[in-house]
Parts: sequence; structure tokens; C-alpha cells
Amino acid sequence: MEQKTIPHITIEAVGSFVPPRRVTNDELAQTVDTSDEWIRSHTGIGARHLAADGQATSDLAVKAALDAIDRSDLTLDDIDGIIIATATPDHVGFPSTACIVQEKLGLKNIPAMDVVAGCTGFIYGIEVARGMILSGAMTNVLMIGAEKLSSIVDWNDRNTCVLFGDGAGCAIVSRKDEPTERGVQDTILQADGSGYEYLMVNRGGSRSPIREDGVDIKDVTITMDGRKVYNFAVKQLGAMTKDLMERNGLTIDDIDMIIPHQANDRIIQAAAKRLKIPKEKVFVNIEDFANTSAASIPIALRNLEESGGLKKGDRIIIVGFGAGLTSGGSMIVW
Ligand code: UT7
Repeated sequence: MEQKTIPHITIEAVGSFVPPRRVTNDELAQTVDTSDEWIRSHTGIGARHLAADGQATSDLAVKAALDAIDRSDLTLDDIDGIIIATATPDHVGFPSTACIVQEKLGLKNIPAMDVVAGCTGFIYGIEVARGMILSGAMTNVLMIGAEKLSSIVDWNDRNTCVLFGDGAGCAIVSRKDEPTERGVQDTILQADGSGYEYLMVNRGGSRSPIREDGVDIKDVTITMDGRKVYNFAVKQLGAMTKDLMERNGLTIDDIDMIIPHQANDRIIQAAAKRLKIPKEKVFVNIEDFANTSAASIPIALRNLEESGGLKKGDRIIIVGFGAGLTSGGSMIVW
């Protein structure tokens, strides 16, 4: 019988965009009861970038996609699928932000859809792209994580507003039929819905539609049980990374870099400490961007590559957690 080889699913390029408006902790402390010292010591965040008023998630996504195309050997004509992971779509319900991005990029008659998995959305999306490529539905996919979290933050709530930022990152996920070591090698995805209330936006969905009744800003912005999410995050970042290495017969010596979701430097360092992973093998850029949810990992990948810390052939782990509560990790040879 003829042996069929499974094609490799590679990341051909990664691009990103963060809006130019940079808001430092000190600037935020002028309007909210907080301080640079508190934010830095509890999260590692120094600043966040915020989109302009008229700028929507799709606008950030398009810029990240074009950056990724620029950095690849492909053109827009090669793209035959768009997936966007976002918690802040341009419109609630429909249309998907991916369809708006498709229109803005001038791409016709290709599938486009959104994935909702909180801050783990980029990792879920890579796996959705991989599955769709293997099914034959797509060949070169724009897998975009994009967020305008400033649109769902209560700027008077110091428990949440200091944590988040806006931005977008895009990976071009491609099918390679020729032999290569590169590609997505293994992925773990999980969800624990028992924690769905720990990180949510209360109203505006079918559970509690917004009609003529008065809307309290707290009902349409992020509410969070920070401690519960913190504990889940430390546990899952560690567990996912460990499982990915163990089930592939690898140790940290075989991994060039771990790129975790950038939510809180304390979470990242606590998880790394538990696994005895050296600091220099964990990429952190939260100081400049804060938590950009589904965009944080592709923005980090782009930063790391630009700084020379990520080269073709490197074996990396991307790992994250988020609302749902979801978590996931992927081992990739870049
Ligand atoms: O992508 C997933 C998104 N979410 C997360 O990753 C969140 C995970 N959780 C966390 O990162 C941490 O739990 C936080 C950074 C949110 C909070 O840190 P914490 O060490 O767990 O602080 P806490 O919630 O226990 O609050 C300690 C104190 C409280 O004051 P009292 O009650 O002790 O007087 C808060 O009111 O810190 C106060 N506080 C602040 N003070 C100044 C909370 N936020 C602020 C603030 N500035 N921005």
C-alpha cells in the first residue's frame, strides 16, 4: 500500500502591530488610584498601547497581517484562509471580524472565521488552522490574534484597567509537502468551564441582552477574580509546558525558548520557577505592551524574532491561559 506522508504545518512568518499611543503607568495614575510602583511590582507592566477612538480590532488585525506578508515569501494572493482569535470583535455576534479583515485586504471567496478562546485564542487558532490545512480546506492561513481590550475595560476600575493593552499579531500558517524539520509538532488544548465566571463580561450576550434598561459600565466591561485566574495560570503554564516536553521525550535543554502568554510577569516567573526553567529561556515583553490577550503571543514572537532571539530551526513552546478558563500549548520548530 502506498505510504502517505503527513504534510508539515509551518509558521512561515509572523507580523504585528501596536497602536502608537503609549500610556505609561504614571500617566494612568493621574486618573486612577494606582501607582507605577504597584503595577510594576504586581505585574511587571510599565506601559500599554491604546488604539485610537475610531480604530477597531479589524484595523489592528489588517496592519499585523500586512506586516506578516511583508516578512514572508508569500503575497496576499497566496492566502486562502483567515482565522482571527479575539475577545473584542468589531461587532458583537456577527459579522466575524475575520470577514471584515478579508474585505479590507481585498481577498475574495476564501473562508474567514473568528475563534473565541480568551487569551489562549492564538494557540487554539493555530490548531484550528492546522486542522483546516490538513483537511485540505486551506493552504496558507492568516492566523491573527487581535484585540482592542481598551474598549471593554472600565477605566475607573484599578483592579483591571492597569492590566490590559491593545494590539495585533499575525502568523502565516502554511502547508509544506516537501520534507522539513520545521512545523507545529505537538499541541495541547484544554478548557475548565467551571471557572467561566472568573473572567468575563457580564452583559450584552444572550444571557443578559442590553435593551432599553440602563447600562452600568461595570456590566459591559471586564470583571475578574484576579487570584483565581492567577492560581489557574501558574498551574496550567507549568503543566502544559511539562506535558509537552515529557510526551515528546524532551527536556528544557532541547527547547530554545518558551514564549508564554504575557498576562503578568509574576505568573510567568512563578511557573518557570516551579519547572526550574532558567530565566533566559522564557521570553517576556509585558513591560512595554501589558496584556494584549489573544495578540500577546504573536506580538511576542515578532519581537523575539526581530531582536535575533528566534531563528529558523529553533524549537520553541508557546503556552497560554485565559477566559473560559482555557489553556493550551504548542511545540513548534520555527
Ligand atoms: O489573561 C488573563 C488575564 N488575567 C490575569 O492574568 C489576572 C491574574 N491575576 C493577577 O495577575 C493578579 O491577581 C492581579 C495583578 C490582578 C492582582 O494582584 P494580587 O497580588 O493578586 O493583588 P490583590 O488582588 O490581592 O490586591 C491586593 C491589593 C488590594 O488592596 P487591599 O484590599 O489589600 O487593600 C487591591 O485593592 O492591591 C489593591 N490593588 C491595587 N492597588 C493599586 C488592586 N489593583 C491595584 C492597582 N493599584 N492597580
